Amino acid sequence: MTKPLTKIRNICCIGAGYVGGPTMAVIADRCPFIKVTVVDLNEKRIAAWNSKDLSQLPVYEPGLDAVVKRARGRNLHFSTEVDLTISQADMVFISVNTPTKTKGLGSGQASDLRWVEACARQVANSAEGHTIVVEKSTLPVRTAETVQSILQASQEPKDEQTKQKTFVVLSNPEFLAEGTAISDLESPDRVLIGGEDSEAIEALAGIYKEWVPAEKILRTNLWSSELSKLTANAFLAQRISSINSVASLCEVTGADVKEVAKAIGADSRIGTKFLNAGPGFGGSCFKKDILNLVYLCRHFGLPEVADYWQKVVTLNTWQQDRIARLVVKKLFGTVTSKKIALLGFAFKADTNDTREAPAIRIAKDLLEEGACLAIYDPKVDAKQIETDLTLPPNYVLADKSSSPKEINNAEGIWWPSQNVKEAALGADAILILTEWDEFQYLNWKEIAPLMRQPAWVFDTRSVVNANAVKSTGLRLWRVGDGAQ
Ligand code: UDX
Ligand code: ADP
Repeated sequence: MTKPLTKIRNICCIGAGYVGGPTMAVIADRCPFIKVTVVDLNEKRIAAWNSKDLSQLPVYEPGLDAVVKRARGRNLHFSTEVDLTISQADMVFISVNTPTKTKGLGSGQASDLRWVEACARQVANSAEGHTIVVEKSTLPVRTAETVQSILQASQEPKDEQTKQKTFVVLSNPEFLAEGTAISDLESPDRVLIGGEDSEAIEALAGIYKEWVPAEKILRTNLWSSELSKLTANAFLAQRISSINSVASLCEVTGADVKEVAKAIGADSRIGTKFLNAGPGFGGSCFKKDILNLVYLCRHFGLPEVADYWQKVVTLNTWQQDRIARLVVKKLFGTVTSKKIALLGFAFKADTNDTREAPAIRIAKDLLEEGACLAIYDPKVDAKQIETDLTLPPNYVLADKSSSPKEINNAEGIWWPSQNVKEAALGADAILILTEWDEFQYLNWKEIAPLMRQPAWVFDTRSVVNANAVKSTGLRLWRVGDGAQ
């Protein structure tokens, strides 16, 4: 006996992270008649979502503060009362973390589903009446089966008094990219809903129809939906590895990867997007999703397909290592006790997220070589960098890092810098790893004299004005530029 549900009134989202927070904020903003409550076990995170000062939200996304300001307290709520919120909801979104497993079966490739499973059990216990459960987290194909079987096990009423619970599972992967989350959510290329129960599918579609054109709402079966998310990310990541592989070829042949990208992107079948060579892709999704795909392919007896996708990740790691090696080589074969200004730590611009950021691996490689890194990122704080590098900053040196002499024999240390000039002071090189806007407009005339000559600028994002850099006498290396 299922309760017919055409209009959703009460949504619970489990997981107040990068996906859950912004997605629910936009749903609440666009659907003022739905009560949306985002729950999380992490009290600090929930407190941050509730903070009066909107600059303290736990996720930095352009435009997010305005959306939260409009909806919070009206029909958007952030709470740690997980069970209560589930019990009141018609629809529960699962938006928890699914990192790659670090041990056991599938270690290093398969997703760790313990948080999803815990959520499913919690929903099974606390839900009342009919509940539509929506998978929002990126999940391996056929995860819905696991969620469904946990939920089904709780459907039988325990005694005469207990009301029967019913569940329907849908897949509704999120395609938002960090840094553009709000515009991606407000005008998505498509919304994908996978499932078998047409009534539940229409209930979810009804929410999106409030602001997304009907033709952009795609309906598929559960497994196609789950697989589409992994495949979309794998295709995007593959383009980046492809252009990065071409960049290395450009550097040795005299071609320029920017020109090549423009020429091939002009072919409408290829398109212009995702053709920027760089230090390799980062972010919480690409690597994890490809490794997931690789694991699935092996599991289903398709080793050639697994190897094919694995290469996309291999090339990405190689690109990061190659950049670190190149810096060492250009600095006369050694960076021991040399100061390098590392500009940008986030995995891309307009986010404070450092998950899988290329900067982590490149910085670790350089620290291993003995470099002293002055790290500046406009949005990433020192605590996060410390966690990522598993190395505390050396503040003692940060106070008097002005000249190379003062660095003395220190090696393999880092400290946070407050701005570019402070980082560049006495440095042998500047290494740009994130394409923050401000790095495009640096005043090289002011920066060059601060550095120890001969000094280098390594631009892994092709953001600087090459002529402006070179006119100051600085040496410039730009990714994919064979003319240098
Ligand atoms: C990605 C997908 O784009 C999104 O649809 C999915 O929901 C989650 O994963 P995100 O990880 O936020 O989003 O960032 P994205 O903009 O895709 O960039 C990923 C990485 O690729 C970044 O490190 C970025 O710097 C790099 N990149 C992107 C390039 O190196 N070159 C490009 O041309 C584009
Ligand atoms: P994503 O990028 O997918 O949004 P995050 O790691 O940013 O991932 O966020 C996931 C959130 O889910 C975290 O804040 C974590 O505390 C929360 N979470 C994980 N498991 C549970 C659970 N069982 N109940 C409530 N919150 C959970």
